[in-house]
Amino acid sequence: MSSSRVIPLYDARRVVTSPALQLLPEGALVADQLGRPLRDLRISVTDRCNFRCGYCMPKQVFDKHHQFLPHAELLSFEEITRLARVFVGLGVEKLRITGGEPTLRRGLEDLIAMLAELRTPDGRELDLTLTTNGSLLTRKAAALKAAGLKRLTVSLDGLDDAVFQRMNDVGFPVSDVLDGIQAARDAGLGPIKVNMVVQRGVNDDQVLPMARHFRGSGVVLRFIEFMDVGATNGWRMDQVLPSAELLQRLQAEFPLVPLSASAPGETAERWGYADGAGEIGLISSVTQAFCGDCNRARLSTEGQLYTCLFATRGHDLRTLLRGPAAASDEQLAGAVAGVWGQRADRYSQLRGSGIELPADERRVEMHYIGG
Ligand code: GTP
Ligand code: 5AD
Ligand code: SF4
Ligand code: SF4
Repeated sequence: MSSSRVIPLYDARRVVTSPALQLLPEGALVADQLGRPLRDLRISVTDRCNFRCGYCMPKQVFDKHHQFLPHAELLSFEEITRLARVFVGLGVEKLRITGGEPTLRRGLEDLIAMLAELRTPDGRELDLTLTTNGSLLTRKAAALKAAGLKRLTVSLDGLDDAVFQRMNDVGFPVSDVLDGIQAARDAGLGPIKVNMVVQRGVNDDQVLPMARHFRGSGVVLRFIEFMDVGATNGWRMDQVLPSAELLQRLQAEFPLVPLSASAPGETAERWGYADGAGEIGLISSVTQAFCGDCNRARLSTEGQLYTCLFATRGHDLRTLLRGPAAASDEQLAGAVAGVWGQRADRYSQLRGSGIELPADERRVEMHYIGG
């Protein structure tokens, strides 16, 4: 052995402890810079949708000239399942399939069946769910259930046909969505949640009719503040109906009592009807940010990992899946853990405190990374 060779010695003075490691919460396998574990993975399976909700895919932008992703760009079901398995190995316990409109992806039931096989490291089944606009549920609910889907969330922004058709902007009738919800219930996909985005002056007159309709039905209705997500929806603060005001409107007709959270990092604040007729949820990402314990990662249609709904950039996992230099599962897990360990996103909180955000980059669109 040459005498000039330097043998590296372990020097404890030079070991830097990462803040993420210091903050690792009990039971978590990875934690980000703010000590938040990774629990929830939202997977967008298509960037296409048959609706054109103004707050998500406004018709003027997503018109016949808009280029959607060609099929070869999408992750395959095998690629999605492989990545989901890696995420589950890092602590993910809930998978939400989104889009665009996920039921438009051909063979979706096959993907559900593949994901339903996954287990947590200690052998538990995952919470496997889906967000849909409900338009295809009468045809698809039973097959989704049979494939292993556990529950389902339907977006519905009003009960009045004129209002709802103005919201979806393609003339889709309310009755078909209600039939879809019924089909999901009949298939056993409960507990079903209905998400309503509320835009002041556009559909806020639907808040009470929606509450009356779903009260006592077993469906959990959740009201969402109109968010400034993406770069195309023309968001204005004066169109946000703050949850506090919405709650007052509801309380005037139905006494409500606060309920405790059902899971850490939950988006919705839960309220129960005082007479026991079920519960509602308030999702207040504009007026009461819930970044503090946000445990959600998002996988875009083409395999980019986003660590915040308001991110401007993703991390390209697809490159690690394809090609001659494809990564092993261990390498993939290392890459994802590395990204999560660096995460410091808390967009909604910063917006609330008035801190300026860099305006030089375009925020990613929600139909592409999934709600
Ligand atoms: P459950 O597991 O059924 O409680 O679902 P969830 O509330 O975690 O997910 P869902 O997709 O139903 O979320 C409802 C809405 O909350 C979304 O459509 C978004 O408008 C909003 N939302 C969900 N996740 C986030 C988030 O991480 N940040 C912000 N700002 N809004 C979010
Ligand atoms: N504000 C709030 N929620 C939104 N969603 C999409 N765009 C917005 C927005 N601008 C959510 C809604 C919808 C789901 C698919 O995505 O909850 O139901
Ligand atoms: Fe489609 Fe849902 Fe976006 Fe509406 S909110 S355009 S239904 S993806
Ligand atoms: Fe999570 Fe970003 Fe939403 Fe905050 S704004 S809750 S960090 S996704």
